[in-house]
Amino acid sequence: MGHLAFLLGLLFEATSICGIPFCSDDGQLAFYNSCNLTEVPRVPNTIIKLFLSYNYIRMINATSFPLLEMLQLLQLGTQHTPLIIEREAFRNLPNLRILDIGYSKIQFLHIDAFQGLPNLFELRLFFCNLSDSILKDGYFRNLSSLSVLDLSKNAIQNIHLHPSFEDLKSLESIDLSQNQISHVCERDLKLLQGKRFSLFNLSSNILFSRISVNWEECMNPFKNMFLEILDVSDNGWTVDIIQNFSRATNGTKILSLFLKNHIMGAGFGFHNIKEPDQDTFAALGMSSMIKMDISHGFIFSLNSHLFETLKKLKLINLSYNKVNQIAKEAFYGLDSLQVLNLSYNLLGELYNSDFYGLPNVAYIDLQKNHIGAIQAQTFNPLKNLKTLDLRDNAIKTVGFLPSITTVFLSGNKLVSFERRGITAEFLDLAENRLETLTDFYTLLQIPGLKFLILNKNRFSICYQHYSSSKNYTLEKLYLSENMLELVWQTGSCWNMFKGLYQLKVLFLNNNYLSFLPPDVFSDLTALQILSLHANKLTSLSPGVLPANLRVLILSHNLLLSPDPSIFASLSHLDISHNQYICDCEVKNFILWLNQTNVTMLGSPEDVYCTYPGSFSGVSLYSISTEGCDEEEALKFINFTLFIFFTTTLTLFLTATVIFTKFRGLCFSLWHKMVQRLTFKYHRQGVEEDQHKYDAYLCFSNKDFEWVQNALLHHLDSRYNSENRFNLCFEERDFLPGEDHINNIRDAIWSSRKTICIVTKHFLKDGWCIEAFNFAQSRYFSDLKDVLIMVVAGSLSQYQLMKYPPIRVFVQRQPYLKWPEDLQDVGWFLNKLSQSILTKKEEKKKSNNIALQTVATVS
Ligand SMILES: *[C@@H]1O[C@H](CO)[C@@H](O)[C@H](O)[C@H]1NC(C)=O
Ligand SMILES: *[C@@H]1O[C@H](CO)[C@@H](O)[C@H](O)[C@H]1NC(C)=O
Ligand SMILES: *[C@@H]1O[C@H](CO)[C@@H](O)[C@H](O)[C@H]1NC(C)=O
Ligand SMILES: *[C@@H]1O[C@H](CO)[C@@H](O)[C@H](O)[C@H]1NC(C)=O
Ligand SMILES: *[C@@H]1O[C@H](CO)[C@@H](O)[C@H](O)[C@H]1NC(C)=O
Ligand SMILES: *[C@@H]1O[C@H](CO)[C@@H](O)[C@H](O)[C@H]1NC(C)=O
Ligand SMILES: *[C@@H]1O[C@H](CO)[C@@H](O)[C@H](O)[C@H]1NC(C)=O
Ligand SMILES: *[C@@H]1O[C@H](CO)[C@@H](O)[C@H](O)[C@H]1NC(C)=O
Ligand SMILES: *[C@@H]1O[C@H](CO)[C@@H](O)[C@H](O)[C@H]1NC(C)=O
Ligand SMILES: *[C@@H]1O[C@H](CO)[C@@H](O)[C@H](O)[C@H]1NC(C)=O
Ligand SMILES: *[C@@H]1O[C@H](CO)[C@@H](O)[C@H](O)[C@H]1NC(C)=O
Repeated sequence: MGHLAFLLGLLFEATSICGIPFCSDDGQLAFYNSCNLTEVPRVPNTIIKLFLSYNYIRMINATSFPLLEMLQLLQLGTQHTPLIIEREAFRNLPNLRILDIGYSKIQFLHIDAFQGLPNLFELRLFFCNLSDSILKDGYFRNLSSLSVLDLSKNAIQNIHLHPSFEDLKSLESIDLSQNQISHVCERDLKLLQGKRFSLFNLSSNILFSRISVNWEECMNPFKNMFLEILDVSDNGWTVDIIQNFSRATNGTKILSLFLKNHIMGAGFGFHNIKEPDQDTFAALGMSSMIKMDISHGFIFSLNSHLFETLKKLKLINLSYNKVNQIAKEAFYGLDSLQVLNLSYNLLGELYNSDFYGLPNVAYIDLQKNHIGAIQAQTFNPLKNLKTLDLRDNAIKTVGFLPSITTVFLSGNKLVSFERRGITAEFLDLAENRLETLTDFYTLLQIPGLKFLILNKNRFSICYQHYSSSKNYTLEKLYLSENMLELVWQTGSCWNMFKGLYQLKVLFLNNNYLSFLPPDVFSDLTALQILSLHANKLTSLSPGVLPANLRVLILSHNLLLSPDPSIFASLSHLDISHNQYICDCEVKNFILWLNQTNVTMLGSPEDVYCTYPGSFSGVSLYSISTEGCDEEEALKFINFTLFIFFTTTLTLFLTATVIFTKFRGLCFSLWHKMVQRLTFKYHRQGVEEDQHKYDAYLCFSNKDFEWVQNALLHHLDSRYNSENRFNLCFEERDFLPGEDHINNIRDAIWSSRKTICIVTKHFLKDGWCIEAFNFAQSRYFSDLKDVLIMVVAGSLSQYQLMKYPPIRVFVQRQPYLKWPEDLQDVGWFLNKLSQSILTKKEEKKKSNNIALQTVATVS
């Protein structure tokens, strides 16, 4: 530990001088650590700090240093060779305040080595193999400013102070830890009587534990002293030693007593070692003690009236013991206690009487016990309790919870939160087993709740639609690592954030989200920070983000080619590690990236292409968008259609077509022949299953013209009375003013089939993907296969497969493809008509039909 602290110290001092080259100086600061020096280098007399550790300096004498009147800090520790320090070695450093010789093999230290340092404030002599003589022989004479003396980790066995200690008027901190001191008695520290110490550190010695002490003779080592901190940890103290020591020091003011790593208590499963009792600490009552740390021990049972006399104690640390039993009135008498730390013990249950006698306690730390049961009135009488830490226990119900400000309950076994009528501001319920959003809504009702942590639960179920016109007080909500996708996928609880008008921060990381329900954030008018890190979002619909959002985290999603307009309100954005497709689709996005004022979090290299393979891993910032025209593909389709309708005519007139080219013509003749028959059959079908429409045609409104020419004119009965189908589509049949998602849902439910015309525009339209998802969900929810997918335009497999709903569909069954060969269009339309007419409730059959369809068309 000490080594580490020392090295960290060095590191800190080293980094604080960054910018200065090694083995040189900048006029004020000279950095010569590890420079293979054998003597003190020449440095200018303006130097304030001089670092000389890790060198080979063997000897320091009065002429080693030139006169450095400005020097305040000298580090000389950790020489690789044994060090000799001669008389008045530092006299040329008259203003030195800190001298560090720690970790040195001191071969010889002259008794006058430190003479001539009237301003020395801190002297570090730890780990120097110093013996008793360092205290006995007057090395510290005349150090009238010495305040902090560190003699830890040496070989001191007895404390016999040189008379000059009486003159060290400034001394207020002495560290004698990690020596071999076996006893300290009144006569040893007589010269320090009347002093006030901020720290007297005697930890990790063998104080009083290896010899038998005659306390009548030894008396009070700290007589007439005032100790802010006395550290006697790790001296192997038993109940008896502590009791004798307390009696001996009766009356000395000790504000904080550190008694960590003691051996009081029987531990778990032993009976032969004494537990502390009513007498153990009784005599400390006169010391005005405010803080007592008896952590890291073996106390198994907190006995009755254990701390009865400690009326002024404000903090007691009992962590890392083996406390399993709290006797009646164990805490009785702790009238001023504010902080009670019982963490890392073996408590299994808490009873109503356990905390009796703690009128002022504000903070109880019970984390890392095994608490499974808590009686209902355990905390209620504690009127000043503000914070309760019950993390990492085995609690299953919250009936005990009182109205307090802050509650930590993470890492327990809560399956539900059934507690009404309490107030709280901060609730940490992470890492429990909460499953249904009913608990979430219960929590929202808690008056005054501002901060709610629900990370790592199992939220995945929504039993009903909750609706509320309340204005909730919640400001920060953490819902990471749940399974909200399972909730939203079923179309339920899309309004779970309703009424959170005051929410500022929302974390939804790792929820498997593949889409954001429209309007899910619509009430979050105050939201500033939203994290959707590590979900499965492929696109964001315009308008789904709250209007005042400032910071958005979208890293580690599956975004393909985001629409930059949705990031308009942001000041900070993280869009690293997505799956961008670097074709012309992302042109706008790339252009926006290049000139936006939004601060990008994460490095530019992490915003990279995933497709196509040749661009994989290339940063979006280094891609050129030259030669991209977005509309090209669609124009091509329109053009081919035009050609088709003119050439069908020509086809009739041309006699010299090769045989294979006749299949289209033959088909359309046959088609006309059977048309009337099927027309009749179809009409009957409609009446039978009582759907308002034969099919709901779902497509991006940017494709409207094309769909009208290619499909509506040939299928929809209102375009042409000879057509057989009663179709539904947004532009004509949706109720204006009705919620868009409701319109879509109605259309799907009142149509026998849903036909999705998947084009590039379709993929970019959040509503289209949503409709697709919804139609598909009917397959899973009521086993009705209503979805027909038609792919038009040049869309590759990977572009389709990036959208989870489409991927699921494609894996389940084949889809129809708009034919590339124009003469196959008539045949295609017929196949599509058949698909509309087919009832597909048996999965196997439907698969076969669709498979044949695709196989023949493409
Ligand atoms: C110190 O000496 C070692 C071994 O001779 C050498 O590797 C290292 O570079 C030297 N350091 C400096 C700062 O000269
Ligand atoms: C101080 O030490 C140096 C070698 O480090 C030596 O040359 C010099 O004579 C010494 N001076 C005194 C006064 O001992
Ligand atoms: C420490 O000092 C003692 C004499 O005081 C000596 O015998 C011992 O070897 C020293 N130990 C180390 C590690 O230098
Ligand atoms: C240093 O201390 C010695 C004896 O303790 C004393 O004789 C001497 O005058 C002191 N020197 C200064 C400069 O105070
Ligand atoms: C006393 O010294 C020990 C060991 O050197 C250290 O760990 C502890 O923090 C010190 N105590 C105080 C109160 O600083
Ligand atoms: C405590 O003090 C009593 C009375 O002086 C003595 O008999 C006993 O041995 C002491 N115990 C320890 C552990 O020092
Ligand atoms: C401590 O000292 C007070 C007097 O200052 C005395 O009344 C009391 O009995 C002593 N307590 C113990 C435990 O010796
Ligand atoms: C209590 O002691 C433990 C272990 O030594 C320490 O980690 C914790 O910070 C202490 N707490 C207080 C409030 O002193
Ligand atoms: C909700 O309450 C806050 C604070 O009382 C208020 O500022 C805000 O306007 C309210 N919002 C709505 C929509 O009622
Ligand atoms: C980014 O903008 C700069 C001018 O602001 C322009 O020179 C550069 O070509 C742009 N880069 C891309 C990839 O658009
Ligand atoms: C970025 O900020 C500058 C100056 O503040 C402004 O002129 C420019 O229009 C801003 N650009 C965008 C894309 O908002």
